[in-house]
Amino acid sequence: MSEAAADPAARAAQLRAELNHHARRYYELDDPEIADDAYDALLDELRGIEAEHPELVSEDSPTCRVGAAPVSDLVKVAHLQRMLSLANAHNGEDLRAWVTRMRNHLAREGIADPSFRFVAEPKIDGLAMSLIYRDGVLERGATRGDGEIGEDVTHNVRTIAVIPPRLVLAPGETPPALVEVRGEVYMSLSDFTALNERRAEAGLSTFMNPRNSAAGTIRQLDPRLTAQRPLSFWAYQVGVTDGLELHSHTDALAWLAAHGFPVNPDITTLDSAEAVIAQCEAWAARRGALDFEIDGVVIKVDDYELQRRLGVVGRDPRWAIAWKFPPTTAKTRLLAVRWNPGKFGDLHPYAELEPVRVAGVTIKLATLHNEEDLARKDIRPGEDVIVLRAGDVIPQVLSPAPHVVEAADRPPRPQVPARCPVCETPTVKPEGSVFTRCPNRDCAGRRWQLLTTFAGVMDIVGLGEKLVSRLMELGWVRSAADFYRLDAARLAQLDGFGARSAEKLMTAIEASKAQPFGRVLFAIGIEEVGAVTGENLARQFRSIDALLAAGEEEISQTPGVGPKMAAAICAQLADPKMVALIEDLRELGLRFVEDGPPPGEGALSGLTFVLTGTLPELTREEATALIQNAGGKVTGSVSKKTSYLIAGEAAGSKLAKAESLGVPVLDEAGLVELLATGPAADKES
Ligand code: IVH
Repeated sequence: MSEAAADPAARAAQLRAELNHHARRYYELDDPEIADDAYDALLDELRGIEAEHPELVSEDSPTCRVGAAPVSDLVKVAHLQRMLSLANAHNGEDLRAWVTRMRNHLAREGIADPSFRFVAEPKIDGLAMSLIYRDGVLERGATRGDGEIGEDVTHNVRTIAVIPPRLVLAPGETPPALVEVRGEVYMSLSDFTALNERRAEAGLSTFMNPRNSAAGTIRQLDPRLTAQRPLSFWAYQVGVTDGLELHSHTDALAWLAAHGFPVNPDITTLDSAEAVIAQCEAWAARRGALDFEIDGVVIKVDDYELQRRLGVVGRDPRWAIAWKFPPTTAKTRLLAVRWNPGKFGDLHPYAELEPVRVAGVTIKLATLHNEEDLARKDIRPGEDVIVLRAGDVIPQVLSPAPHVVEAADRPPRPQVPARCPVCETPTVKPEGSVFTRCPNRDCAGRRWQLLTTFAGVMDIVGLGEKLVSRLMELGWVRSAADFYRLDAARLAQLDGFGARSAEKLMTAIEASKAQPFGRVLFAIGIEEVGAVTGENLARQFRSIDALLAAGEEEISQTPGVGPKMAAAICAQLADPKMVALIEDLRELGLRFVEDGPPPGEGALSGLTFVLTGTLPELTREEATALIQNAGGKVTGSVSKKTSYLIAGEAAGSKLAKAESLGVPVLDEAGLVELLATGPAADKES
């Protein structure tokens, strides 16, 4: 058994002492006793122990990458030097005017004909960050805030893998006493998409866009949470320094790259305004192909002496400018508010707009979410509104255009329809719901939604929204079962369909029969049953017959299913039409039995959990479902038999009791880790 396995706490303490000793020899005395790679090996070992035993991480640890204890509040800190903003340019004309302004200013300073060298950098759509390194060691990370005062987010910055905790130095190099590195924290598009997929799968809410997601993450109080969310960083400026002399921005970028910071490889230096303009246009054309969002290009005068002479006007340096890409919001006329029934009849409002170009795309429709959202925004057909298109998300109507709100006689507010816009059945509004509903289960609008959802959930590639509409119009498909009765010969007759695409679709439909029972339960359209509940029901009941025979009481024993949900599920499963659909699909060969592990088996089997306090991300029900899905038990009170207490914010007496009984306490991140790795690592200690 290794030293660490025998007593990880002792080994961690020893490593920390050794690392601190060597860091002092290296940095303060300039007289290292061991080589860099030996130092790195010790650091790696400590990281390994801390990763396995998060409870051993201390704030002063030389690693501090795994994330220390949560902070109770974000502390405001003053920047050593103001963080400036940038004036904007929107086109070549603006850019030439900027260069002329600089020439005129310098002429007044007695510099007659300056030759400018420009640096053009992508303007990353993230959050500006100031990082302070003292004697080569990361001391503080702070958000921009208002430019003068930011928030201390050091605990989170330490979890960002690409930010070096200490400067990378050449052999024998002494780090500057002080250097401030500035740059942008962001989330890459691929990381953002993957994170949202993970969250959706776990039944958590998803983030709007990468910027919001990065902003929310960097301001987390618990760094262990930040550590699970992939943040990146581009360095783009050196701020205050002591013991470091740089003469140009190019110097600064080279210094940053050489000392361990990610610097965008596509940053270019250019000699003329015309070359800068061409470069900005090139970035605009590349925008959609990048793995991070940019909202423009930042152009900086390279030479520090010229920068100094040019100075600052208000909050903007005269020596830099932001070339902003076309905005993602635009003003247009709201033609009408229309309503679309969802698969359970909820009427969703959407906006029909006078077509308008936003960030290179023409928008005619935009979502309005629900009635309350519509009322709150107080937008009215016939008036101008502001629309937003962010990334790849569905365009939204944000608000009325500022000028219309002051008008004396505004057109009337849009009305919630009294009849379903598709089938004309009178609508109803269930008490406590934000949606008015079409109550007709045979409504073609509702059926279309059910069928497209079914095709998506069952992963039938090629069976998209338009094709579903056509199949419905032709009368070939009324229920999901009809998909499995299509044949290649008939499909091949459709416009734009050949024998080959017909065969391909048939293969995809056939393949969907292999989808597991839990998936099928989600796909057939039982209100309240999504991906997670579908799977939970499948595991709990193991066959459709057992589920159909179950009463409310029994259904409510399913992880994550409360009494109200159980009642709704039970009622729908008693509906003869639902039973008929299930029978149909079963005969057609879909899976209605479960073959995954039964409840009680899994990574957490045999373990008992108690939940207390508010968890940062998961609701009580979600956490319970996750534990039960992995075979664990959740009980209400702490005893000696409790394996773990999962404690969130404002945990009270249960936490005290667990501590007095020596029951291990985990936070949400600890639970998530336990779910991923099982309790094996902990059993050893
Ligand atoms: S330089 C005086 N460079 O843009 C220098 N800023 O409006 C000011 N930004 O708050 C910053 N990419 O968040 C600079 N390559 C880049 C940038 C960049 C994004 C952001 C930054 C800043 C804002 C300025």
